[in-house]
Amino acid sequence: MTGEFVKLPSELAIIILAAGKGTRMKSYLPKVMHKIACKPLIKHVIDTAKILLPKNIVTVLASDMQYVEQLICFDSQISIQKQQLGTGHAVKVALEKLTNFHGNILILYGDTPFINSNTLKNLLAKISENNAVAVLGFNANEEAKYGRLITDGNDNLTEIVEYNDASNEQRKITLCNSGVFAIKSDVLKNLISKIDNKNKKGEYYLTDIISLSVKEGYRATYISCQEDEVLGINNKIELANAEKLMQKKLANHLMEQGVTLLDPASLYLSSDLKIGKDVIIEPNVFFGEDVRIGDNVHIKSFSHIEGAFIESGSIIGPFARLRPGSNIGQNVKIGNFVEIKKSNLSSGVKVNHLSYIGDSQVGEDANIGAGTITCNYDGFNKFETIIGRGVFVGSNCALVAPLMIKDGAMIAAGSVVTDTVSVDDLAIARNRQTNISGWAKIFRSRKKDK
Ligand code: UD1
Ligand code: MG
Repeated sequence: MTGEFVKLPSELAIIILAAGKGTRMKSYLPKVMHKIACKPLIKHVIDTAKILLPKNIVTVLASDMQYVEQLICFDSQISIQKQQLGTGHAVKVALEKLTNFHGNILILYGDTPFINSNTLKNLLAKISENNAVAVLGFNANEEAKYGRLITDGNDNLTEIVEYNDASNEQRKITLCNSGVFAIKSDVLKNLISKIDNKNKKGEYYLTDIISLSVKEGYRATYISCQEDEVLGINNKIELANAEKLMQKKLANHLMEQGVTLLDPASLYLSSDLKIGKDVIIEPNVFFGEDVRIGDNVHIKSFSHIEGAFIESGSIIGPFARLRPGSNIGQNVKIGNFVEIKKSNLSSGVKVNHLSYIGDSQVGEDANIGAGTITCNYDGFNKFETIIGRGVFVGSNCALVAPLMIKDGAMIAAGSVVTDTVSVDDLAIARNRQTNISGWAKIFRSRKKDK
């Protein structure tokens, strides 16, 4: 007897079901394109799937889901299910891409973003010489409209009954089907065409694969996980709840990595955020996609940061806005009401108050005075401003691009600078002040006489 210890084919293929229209989202976007933590739902699932190093990932989409196809086509093969005839039918369509595959198959849903790779590994570990199928179950309350896992009282599954088709007795079972299956591909291929649509919904139910397997003499089993992990998203309220849960997970993860969050619940975090050591983040900060932060950075309240790379020791905010393409060097200070876009700020730069720096290069230790604006746009094109090392720009200057201010130059406050400023020069570009002696006193006395 070969028993349970025979090495199984380790090859894995993953099928992701995502052809459902998601009409309850009331949106022009397919359901799985909605984002949590800045990442589309389907990408959360695909990124988890990739951790398992599968040989194939096949995603099942409906025919009008080109946007989803574009998003995932480098990570997954696509099978188009022309009509949504049920989960069993969707898997059948996916199997057309796996005719030469003979390992284990994992089936996931595109709208369940919290599924964890360790849980999936545990589920796959249940597939053995004896067990052909393993289902991921969870406990829900009696009213929940999920399929029910029917067991023989031990670890064996005998069937899954959909809520609509279940008897009152069966509905009392709280062990529910998450929809996640691990199954030997040869068993799945053998049985998939035997599924019929004789049920209340008139759909081809993948869940019927369990009773069919048992009938053919295969064993089916299950493991359980927390309901949170298999949370599906069907409408905007569930999307918001899922977002909240994901934000909590991301914040906890950052704190575990040593980041200090003064008020984790008030932050918005992107799933791809990378943060170094000894970083302090004050309450109410928004992080969009593609942000990387070095060590010892301090982000003060009400800052909005996306597409930015912040090197160690810098202080950002309060009320700072860093837009995509902001590269902030070491020990830079960006203060309140400062907006940076597509600009490189070298180490030691200070932009402390009320400025817009766009399409610019700013050299080491330059000081940009309050109210300085780079005028980078003429209504048609964008132009660059180059500010050299150690430049001092006085307050309330307009720097009209294209412009070069060379190393060590100074710009007098209130200047509108349109021409190159040479190394160590002072540029003054404003009217000279005229004082008229005693004019104010004369003015007031004239007014009084009237
Ligand atoms: C399914 C399960 C149910 C389980 C529940 C968990 C079946 C028959 N029922 O029910 O036991 O408790 O999930 O959430 O499997 N899809 C397609 N093509 C189709 C139909 C569905 O790709 O033709 C995709 C959907 O996009 C979705 C997934 O399959 O990602 C599940 O479909 P859904 O209609 O939500 O199944 P449920 O009725 O919720
Ligand atoms: Mg569902």
